[in-house]
Amino acid sequence: MKLLESKTLQNLARSFAGETQASTRYKFIEYGARNEGYNALAEVIDKIAFNEFNHGRMFYTYIQQASPKMIENIDISAGYPFKEKWNLVENLKLAADDEEHDRNLYKEFEKVAREEGFEEIANLFAMTASVEECHKKLFLDLYQQFSSGTAYKKDKTVKWKCSGCGYEAESKEAWDKCPLCQAEQGFVMLQVASK
Ligand SMILES: [Fe+2]
Ligand SMILES: [Fe+2]
Repeated sequence: MKLLESKTLQNLARSFAGETQASTRYKFIEYGARNEGYNALAEVIDKIAFNEFNHGRMFYTYIQQASPKMIENIDISAGYPFKEKWNLVENLKLAADDEEHDRNLYKEFEKVAREEGFEEIANLFAMTASVEECHKKLFLDLYQQFSSGTAYKKDKTVKWKCSGCGYEAESKEAWDKCPLCQAEQGFVMLQVASK
């Protein structure tokens, strides 16, 4: 089967559209986090947005390989989430839900690609699904920390680090203002599994 006539091409186009939207939605969340003074959170979100950009870039690359001629247009019919409002903490939960949705979709697209004989693309979908699973866990972790007020306040002593100047110290609760550079608490790096 030629990629140009396949369901997989449609799925690549849907995925490209989904990834570019996800990247932009996360830029919105990052923007909100910076506006509210949560710079360290914004940095984490920025990295996830960059991951989505690169997923989109790889999907686009495979679409380009489908034909030596210019592909003028690909018609797709698909739904995309528009549920996020301008509530920072709530958006973290909604983003986790979106990640779960994408992970499941890519597992389905992986299956179709294998059935159509596109092993490389199937593997790309599989690898991307595994990243979305990590993103989901990270967003859920962030949501739990910020919704319960434990992002900067822990039960046990941990090491905090200022993202502004690099100052480190151990305590249960992060400083209000960095003792070295006076940066606000929002600059203290978060305690998350993958940053
Ligand atoms: Fe992605
Ligand atoms: Fe993701």
